[in-house]
Amino acid sequence: MTTASPALPPQAPRSARLIGLGSWLPQRRVTNAELCASLDTSEEWIRTRIGIATRHVADPATATSDMAVEAGTRAMKSAGVEHVDAVVLATATPDHPVPGTAPTVAHRLGLGHVPAFDVGAGCSGFVYATTVATALIQAGTSRTVLVVGAETMSAVIDPADRTTAPIFGDGAGAVVLRAARAGDPGSLGPVVWGSAGEHSDAIRIPAGGSRRPAHTLAGGEAADRYVRMQGNVVLRHAVRHMTRAVRDAAAAAGWAIEDIDRLIIHQANARISAGVADALGISPERVPSNIAEVGNTSAASIPLLLASAAAEGRLAAGQRVAVAAFGAGFTWAATTLVWPAGLSALT
Ligand code: COA
Repeated sequence: MTTASPALPPQAPRSARLIGLGSWLPQRRVTNAELCASLDTSEEWIRTRIGIATRHVADPATATSDMAVEAGTRAMKSAGVEHVDAVVLATATPDHPVPGTAPTVAHRLGLGHVPAFDVGAGCSGFVYATTVATALIQAGTSRTVLVVGAETMSAVIDPADRTTAPIFGDGAGAVVLRAARAGDPGSLGPVVWGSAGEHSDAIRIPAGGSRRPAHTLAGGEAADRYVRMQGNVVLRHAVRHMTRAVRDAAAAAGWAIEDIDRLIIHQANARISAGVADALGISPERVPSNIAEVGNTSAASIPLLLASAAAEGRLAAGQRVAVAAFGAGFTWAATTLVWPAGLSALT
């Protein structure tokens, strides 16, 4: 006689939960006054039009992997783990065009031969990377993943370009994600993400890739290896796409906009953050910011802000948090999480 196996209890779908958070900033701070000494701009313009007072700049001997290792070490310590199953690194400023920077980071963290790869999605890179890491966890491929956002923007910014030089800064942030059940505190909710490649020229490094290889550049074209940006085009699209993405990500999580206790938004320009919050009807005290101190750190922006907001007590257990990013490509991504108890950010 055969007996049917008892029905398994229904399982909540697998998800990824935030268990560790860390960040690292280079020591050197560049003030607006220092920038203005060599740039056709003013302290007042930078403060009022962008919202930045200082940014951190890596010394010439420091590359993206160096900062990623520091942030990764802190995130793993915060999580209380000595090993992870994979490393995903979001960056637009890898140590070298080839190889990816993540294997170097994994090696220097002593993680042995774990899978490690870079994700390139501009300033949306970190949320893209957590999405990929969550999918690895949901598929059962990995159980614990280190996700890092790290940028050496000073390596690709033209110091003589007043439309980019005041904006960007260097730094790194990292999280550890671990398999969990959807709905557990700290687990990442559904992601709303997308791209609009018709605007690929709005933020771009014109040369040095396969379209215009570095070896074909004449002497006077060396400056084409710096970032060029149509700032006002970026600003308009950033507000529109992040507003919609937050609205859709909240709805996908079953939240109303009023349920959002904290909006963690990519620190591109204080006017962009204010524009998104205003369009959503989210009051400024629910929108933590660190752009005044660190500037736009591209893929490092979201984990740096998570870490500083958590360390300063502006993120507390049980709060409903929406996260949104926008960047070169264009790309954008938004997700949600309920802030977990017992997470201590190491900054
Ligand atoms: N100092 C003084 N004047 C400046 C300046 C600076 N640093 N940068 C630009 N200007 C001038 C422009 O030349 C222009 O002058 P004009 O009217 O005589 O032509 C004027 O300011 C307005 O330029 P505009 O580009 O329309 O200004 P803006 O209000 O859009 O602000 C940015 C410019 C770059 C600060 C803003 O567009 C921005 O932050 N965009 C998003 C950038 C970003 O974060 N991208 C990264 C990926 S998300």
